[in-house]
Amino acid sequence: MRTIAIMNQKGGVGKTTTSVNLAAALARRGKRVLLIDMDPQAHASLYLGIEPTAGAPSVYDVMTGDASVASVSRNAAARLWVAPSQLDLAGAEVELAGEIGRERILRGKLAAEQTAPDGAPYDYRIIDCPPSLGVLTINALTAAEEIIIPLQPHFLALHGLGKLLQTIKLVATRLDHPALRLSGVVFCLYDAGTTLAREVSNDIRNFFAEEKERNPGSPWAGAEIYRTKIRRNIRLAEAPSFGQSIFDYDPKSNGADDYADLAAEVDGCKREFAARNKNKSAPRKEPPAPEKPAPNGAETAEGKIDPAEPSVSYFAPNPLSMEID
Ligand SMILES: Nc1ncnc2c1ncn2[C@@H]1O[C@H](COP(=O)(O)OP(=O)(O)OP(=O)(O)O)[C@@H](O)[C@H]1O
Ligand SMILES: [Mg+2]
Repeated sequence: MRTIAIMNQKGGVGKTTTSVNLAAALARRGKRVLLIDMDPQAHASLYLGIEPTAGAPSVYDVMTGDASVASVSRNAAARLWVAPSQLDLAGAEVELAGEIGRERILRGKLAAEQTAPDGAPYDYRIIDCPPSLGVLTINALTAAEEIIIPLQPHFLALHGLGKLLQTIKLVATRLDHPALRLSGVVFCLYDAGTTLAREVSNDIRNFFAEEKERNPGSPWAGAEIYRTKIRRNIRLAEAPSFGQSIFDYDPKSNGADDYADLAAEVDGCKREFAARNKNKSAPRKEPPAPEKPAPNGAETAEGKIDPAEPSVSYFAPNPLSMEID
């Protein structure tokens, strides 16, 4: 079983959209998945049609009381369960302030339960984090072994990354969780064909390549930049209003296509991923118009595969050149 926290303290970068649709895509691949909504905004719960009603069991009861995760989880689709959130969870930050071991509550609960309410084990547990680095996010990080960071390829995205990596390192060291690893960074709301998106993804790729040399023992030394980029797609923004994952709302959309690709990558099916992308050599819907010709080895029109993009510096100094110690 893999437990993955989808984390970025920056708001609106695609954490929830990725948590929900990655979880749904993995379930459609035959995996058994639990989606844990750690955000008091309850967007992941709402996305899958679970209205946060006052008094209904939720992650708040898991964090502040005796409730098990299984006791609050609800079935949302075949092989997909959700541990829902509600606004009360915001109070947990304050309620837990003086509690000893408050950073490991979720970890303790999840360690004691490996199975879904139907008794069979999960393959994946995906945790949607709130846009902060408070106790709820720390609980997600101590409970997970893996982290995926969704990033919007905007130059401001770089500013938060150093702080995020520091937090991961602190959890790994001070909270005694050396197994914690950053699995990868996924670009969301990606405007394929724009120079800025290409430049930001180049810089981040270079940063992680350098970090691999500089800090080979760090939790992010093996981080991938996922080849799948989640393109900006209006259907992804519409789906939550209908309480449906993108696969139920519009299975033929680019959004469904991208999240199915990401799930294949995360699930480690390189051959299937390559085959899916080979079949995509024909132009896809919403083809982006490149602002200028892509350099050698740069993105296809689909904005998918870019193994050897040259680095382009677009502002200096790059905040990622800061030392992470
Ligand atoms: N690929 C996409 N194309 C179009 N819209 C998107 C895409 N991904 C996310 N969105 C929209 O962008 C907004 C922010 O996305 P989302 O809620 O997933 O981000 P978040 O990081 O979880 O935000 P928060 O920090 O508030 O939890 C939402 O309105 C969502 O529907
Ligand atoms: Mg969110």
